[in-house]
Amino acid sequence: MPKDLIAGNWKMHTSHLDAIQMIQKLSYRLEASDHSRVDVVVCPPFTALRSAQTVIETDHLLIKLGAQDVHWEEEGAYTGAVAAPMLQKLSVDYVIVGHSERRQLFGETDDDVNRKLKAVLRHEMTPILCVGETLEEREQGISKDRVGSQIRLGLQGFESGAVAKVVVAYEPIWAIGTGKTADADVAGDMATFIRSALAEQWDTAAEEVPILYGGSVKPGNIAGFMAKRDVNGALVGGAALDPDSFASIVRYWM
Ligand code: 13P
Repeated sequence: MPKDLIAGNWKMHTSHLDAIQMIQKLSYRLEASDHSRVDVVVCPPFTALRSAQTVIETDHLLIKLGAQDVHWEEEGAYTGAVAAPMLQKLSVDYVIVGHSERRQLFGETDDDVNRKLKAVLRHEMTPILCVGETLEEREQGISKDRVGSQIRLGLQGFESGAVAKVVVAYEPIWAIGTGKTADADVAGDMATFIRSALAEQWDTAAEEVPILYGGSVKPGNIAGFMAKRDVNGALVGGAALDPDSFASIVRYWM
């Protein structure tokens, strides 16, 4: 069983100064025993990563650092982009890849996602591969086709050893930032589908992949998702911006 993982995606919120405060506040609310049970990750914007790294290292915090995106090239003329070696140098542990906002608003394709996943793994960080269907796809009954194809294309050409190092986040687009969560049964069912889709191609590696749910996760609904056999954690947006809420989500069993 993979260890539980709760990651906060701060999206385009917080200055580097806010980030320092938020990480400190979060650390006061968590105990060492929480960290042994759950990997706790914060993903601030790029501009706050250096400050976040500094506070985590100086205060010897057990919180891990994540980035929200990456470019697939090692370096080059890609104005505005950030490369994996740059993130690795900042002690980034996790990188979100293929978030639906990147796919929908910035035209990111499954092929881009595949290249980004490879870049993250090349630099010994853990990618969080986001997948999920639109409301239209759900209503047409093709959610699993969509998610299955995002998994297959995103991980195309991967060996089992590489797949075992990936985290998958199921984030139905209709549940993101809308206050509408997927029913815990729907999320659990999709997580089981994702694990069996992984097992079909990569056999036992599938058992090692943490599968997260994301979309309007709050302190009041997290326990329902975590009770599902194939859900190993959550990718939290809005509620991760409040250290009290995020800490309650991390300590979901309390
Ligand atoms: P919300 O928790 O704000 O719905 O965002 C989910 C998300 O997109 C996390 O990546």
